[in-house]
Amino acid sequence: MVKYTYYGHACFLLDDGKYKVLCDPFLTGNPKAAIRAEDVECDYILVSHAHGDHIGDAAAIAKRTGAMIVAIPEVIGVCESQCAGLKSHAMNLGGSVALPFGKVRMTLALHSTGVAGGIAAGFVIHIGDKCVYFAGDTSLFSDMKLIGRKDRIDYALLPIGDNFTMGLEDAALAAQYLNASNVIPIHYDTWPVIEQDVNRYKQLTEETTRASVHIVKPGETIELA
Ligand code: NI
Ligand code: MN
Repeated sequence: MVKYTYYGHACFLLDDGKYKVLCDPFLTGNPKAAIRAEDVECDYILVSHAHGDHIGDAAAIAKRTGAMIVAIPEVIGVCESQCAGLKSHAMNLGGSVALPFGKVRMTLALHSTGVAGGIAAGFVIHIGDKCVYFAGDTSLFSDMKLIGRKDRIDYALLPIGDNFTMGLEDAALAAQYLNASNVIPIHYDTWPVIEQDVNRYKQLTEETTRASVHIVKPGETIELA
């Protein structure tokens, strides 16, 4: 059984009962944060890119908890410049790593990365009996079809906020390209510039794809079925 807890914006926790995997822990300064950086517990921290609304509190949380940061080398470099001596695992696009909870593959994200020489990423996360695709910040790109062909995506976590990432229509198309069974929209309503009608996204996506869309509010936990 895998639980998903949404902490707001693009920050969430996957918990298989033994390992806690935290993604993009932007909590300090996040108006929608459902937990304080000082209180969150985790064993691994996946960071998609170095923009402040994603790298966030990663270094401080890793230092406090001893969690391992998984990211591209340039993003790990930013974390290490904030706190020396962190546990980390560097990887890059197309690469996989077997971690104690399951395999993680780093995927392309079409977005800027916030650190020189870097590239924005997403992750395909195998945890428990589930395969979760976290798109990171990205535009729609047609190679999402390849991501859905390589792995059966149980849950796709897709940004829908527009302006910085895909908006509603492109994120609905992304769900179709990925052939995802379920979609959880993220990266919206944090600030006025990315306010969206999430119910419209749910309707549009469920009308045009096979996916069920789950609207999870900050602070809520759901079991991934
Ligand atoms: Ni970004
Ligand atoms: Mn962002």
